[in-house]
Amino acid sequence: MEYSISISVQTERQVKDTKSIPFGLQPTEHMFIAEYRDGQWQDSRIMPFTNLSMSPLALCLHYGQTVFEGMKAFMMEDGSVNIFRPDKHYDRFTKSLDRMCMPHVPKDLFMEALHQLVQLDASWVPSESDGSLYIRPFMIATEDRIGVKISDEYLFMIVCTPAYQYYSKPLKVKVEDKYVRAAEGGTGFAKCGGNYGASFYPTKLAKEQGYDQVLWTDSKNHEFIEESGTMNVMFVIDGTLLTPPLSGTILDGITRDSLLTIAQEKGIKTEVRPIRHKEIIDALASGKRVEAFGAGTAAVIAPIEVIAVGGKEYTCYLGEDALMYQLANDLLAIRKGHQPDNHNWNYIV
Ligand SMILES: Cc1ncc(COP(=O)(O)O)c(C=O)c1O
Repeated sequence: MEYSISISVQTERQVKDTKSIPFGLQPTEHMFIAEYRDGQWQDSRIMPFTNLSMSPLALCLHYGQTVFEGMKAFMMEDGSVNIFRPDKHYDRFTKSLDRMCMPHVPKDLFMEALHQLVQLDASWVPSESDGSLYIRPFMIATEDRIGVKISDEYLFMIVCTPAYQYYSKPLKVKVEDKYVRAAEGGTGFAKCGGNYGASFYPTKLAKEQGYDQVLWTDSKNHEFIEESGTMNVMFVIDGTLLTPPLSGTILDGITRDSLLTIAQEKGIKTEVRPIRHKEIIDALASGKRVEAFGAGTAAVIAPIEVIAVGGKEYTCYLGEDALMYQLANDLLAIRKGHQPDNHNWNYIV
């Protein structure tokens, strides 16, 4: 089915110098919005970015029926704009929506909205090597009713913001041994708002102790490593790339999947298996070279310098020849069109 999207364009167009603006503060000039009513998506439109108006009774404000995605568009060497792996983002969005009892967005509508919006605001895609356009599709429950129930009405929207380097320095992370982000059977694999709100308090405590992020562990024994902040975690020990499996409690990261694929193609050994934090700490304590890093759309890779467990700190390898930098460069090279895109990851607008 073809969806018709009406477009009203900002009359006085202006692209700001966005490099100095912190991540997430500067929306581009337009946004996409569609309304779900009477079991159907309707009134799909692209319009100048503006505030929403909704009833204080809207269900999303009370019971957390919200889901979002985060993906990026890159300026290619030839000046075209490339949205990275929108199919996989769409699939994850749909899984998150199912878990939160929210209606699917038809793929045609999702892709058409994405395409039209990014095309219209293409001049906002930074051309610098560390720049990209961060794209945030999201859905919220809008039925006006105080009462714990599945909403009958929703808004699906897409907004964009220019993005540059996310973390300015390597991270210090703390192995979390008290709080949990997600438990089996919960919503850990979904990108729903509640997962993030619930992670703030333990992260705030870690920051007060001098750390940037917590390294989440399993909810039963705090023994196995899960993920960190808005990133999956990966390690390199003895030349092998290690990462925890998708157990249902962590997000199926598109960056994680891309880096695993690139590593395998380079002939690097990869292991996707449960990883005890003790295994990593033992390797570090024995003087082994251990690379640790977060992998996610916003940061791409975020090198981890220090891992703390039980108040003791261990230092990871950050040398220039670290494998994580090579993998990140390869990923960037595919996104920018400097290396072939063998998996059809690039969607050229
Ligand atoms: C909790 C969490 N884990 C992992 C990731 C990394 O996923 P991706 O690489 O798709 O951005 C994200 C970011 O979306 C996240 O929010």
